[in-house]
Amino acid sequence: MISFDENTRIFQLDTKNTSYVFGVYKSEQLLHLYWGAKLPIMAELEQYILVQTKALSPQDIGMGGWSTNVARMEYPTHGSVDLRNPAMECTFDDGSACPQLRYAGYKIFDGKQKLKGLPATYCEEGDKVQTLEVELVDAPKELHVFLSYSVFEDYDVITRSVHIENRGPKCKLNSVMSASVDIPEGCDLDFMHFDGTWGRERHPARTPVFCGTQYVDMKNGASGHYHTPFVCFPQHNADEQRGRVYSMGLIWSGEFIGGAQLDNYDTMRAFIGVNKFGFGYTLETGETFQSPEAVLVYTENGLGGMSRIWHKIVRERICRGKFRDIERYALINNWEATYFDFTVEKLSAIADKAKDIGLDLLVLDDGWFGIRNDDHTGLGDWFVNRDKLPEGLDGLANEINKRGMKFGLWFEPEMMSPKDCQLFEKHPDWALHINGRQNSLGRNQLTLDLSREDVCDYIIDAVSKILESANIEYVKWDMNRYMSEVGSDKLPPERQCEVKFRYMLGLYRVLETLTSSFPDVLFESCASGGGRFDFGMLYYMPQTWSSDDTDAVERLYIQHGTSFCYPYSSMGAHVSVCPNHQVGRNTPLKTRGYVALPGQFGFELDLAKMTDEELAEAKRLVGIYKELGEVFHRGDLYRIDDPMNSRFASMNFVSEDGKKVVLLRYVIATQPSCKFKYTRLQGLDPEAVYVCRENGKRYSGAMLMNIGIAWNYRHDYESEMFIFDKLDY
Ligand code: DGJ
Repeated sequence: MISFDENTRIFQLDTKNTSYVFGVYKSEQLLHLYWGAKLPIMAELEQYILVQTKALSPQDIGMGGWSTNVARMEYPTHGSVDLRNPAMECTFDDGSACPQLRYAGYKIFDGKQKLKGLPATYCEEGDKVQTLEVELVDAPKELHVFLSYSVFEDYDVITRSVHIENRGPKCKLNSVMSASVDIPEGCDLDFMHFDGTWGRERHPARTPVFCGTQYVDMKNGASGHYHTPFVCFPQHNADEQRGRVYSMGLIWSGEFIGGAQLDNYDTMRAFIGVNKFGFGYTLETGETFQSPEAVLVYTENGLGGMSRIWHKIVRERICRGKFRDIERYALINNWEATYFDFTVEKLSAIADKAKDIGLDLLVLDDGWFGIRNDDHTGLGDWFVNRDKLPEGLDGLANEINKRGMKFGLWFEPEMMSPKDCQLFEKHPDWALHINGRQNSLGRNQLTLDLSREDVCDYIIDAVSKILESANIEYVKWDMNRYMSEVGSDKLPPERQCEVKFRYMLGLYRVLETLTSSFPDVLFESCASGGGRFDFGMLYYMPQTWSSDDTDAVERLYIQHGTSFCYPYSSMGAHVSVCPNHQVGRNTPLKTRGYVALPGQFGFELDLAKMTDEELAEAKRLVGIYKELGEVFHRGDLYRIDDPMNSRFASMNFVSEDGKKVVLLRYVIATQPSCKFKYTRLQGLDPEAVYVCRENGKRYSGAMLMNIGIAWNYRHDYESEMFIFDKLDY
């Protein structure tokens, strides 16, 4: 899986279908040689460097008259000859900023170690996983940089991270990318990223790579609504089913940067890591820095093939815990049903109907604690409001449990309200702040300073006490503002630019402690909807509330974009009322259900106000979910109609064992005299026979994939579901 040839000094990392190759050149610099479809192991490093372009830039000693400014570099730095974007930047004690990293050795071992304090991929007994650690040294300043690569052979995934040890005088890291890869002929590629804002997260965007640098990044303390920490580079003509695609994601919930620089010789330097904007990390002698982990996926099977690789590694080797492999709860959340205006009676009435239609769990959202009747007050005071819940959380949980349902609760532990809040009165300095500057509010609240140990301990203690006080089996962990005036009283001036990084380390410690202390509680993360939908949060909590926009049509776009790197098993998706609260649109209940069904399904409306007919439909949807949840959550997804570029959306799922296939299709905007349209499924066995439950007809896999199912659509927002069972012979 990982080989090193002592003579040629070439490292080759092989997954099932891909190879990643780099080598140590005569100058002791690491040259990147190849990332793509699987290669046999080759003999000479020079064989990979087919063209040696001479350049105007200075020439490196020992590089045979050519320049590292045009070579493909494995972990580039700035200050010598390579004039492109460096993967790492630092300033030494003498003010110089020219690290010259040279090869100093390597280690290969089976399996993979944990990244201290950070979420990361992991392996389990029996997995074919190997790790390579390459040591690079800047000798004059004794800065040791360890590049770590883990190969998940069967997953077709390679992960990378960087560990830095300062054995010399004090130095400041200004930027540390987790991965940087130089790819030839970048002009053939597009740059694809997933963007949006509150209520319309992760819409795909695709533009040709141009000469210069293009990137997406977040600067406000969270992975964010605006972009997600994932970028990919498909060939111009790559589609869902065909074409080369390079992709990178970062297991990190804070600010990130991801993008590419196409140089003037058509080499594209793709990179991903913690955003260097506003970042700085001082290393005293003996101190270390660990970067978050990047995940790298290459495929020739188009964007669909790429997504299926991401879905599997996220589901199986990033998500953890008891809920990773089991079907989770179909739930009812009271937020859009009551907002802050709930009573035990209202909740009980909702719970009665929830039980009737087969739901598993009721979630009490915002407003149950401190003084909290709107979003201006109370955050931080994590004790129950007895005016609203006279019998406490325990009493309410019992009420719900009596009906045979489970009870879940909302928290927003990283925040503090400056108004009507005991925590703020006692510890105003616990908010992120810069002395002498006015603190800006976001949703009327302040962000707690999680770079402080005492603040993190408080959160662990406060949340634990509540979870111990009642039978709470689900937690919605919300976070509703971005950071501003980022400063901490606990750090000296030269370390203030570490606050955001240390905040994430603090948050991860809190999440690790709570999720391991309460392994039977299902945690779902949320950040004003999908403002922190990322691989880091999924390591602690296997699902995320995808968006506050619950409109069925808007959700088609959001979930479509989200599905490029995140599996449906990670997307919270609920049916809400019409007219929709975010956009005012009316869509049929069936369609709202069919949009939410593939995600982590639930309702977010007042069930007690539904008609009998609506409740019957809701019950039917819950029944389908209970049967087909495993197909959506562990099966393979094939995107068919792209809602961003057509009037339709459609997709099919194939169960893990291939025996069940579900086709879902939706009309977004119909037309009169509509054209003939067929939905051609993907991923089936062409030879097999499939029976369609809806019409009782038999189809061969080849027919379904090549002819497809005719679509006689008429109205906007219509939707259809077809379930096919594969016949056993
Ligand atoms: C934002 C979340 O995204 C909503 O679902 C809801 O929980 C509110 N916060 C509560 O304040």
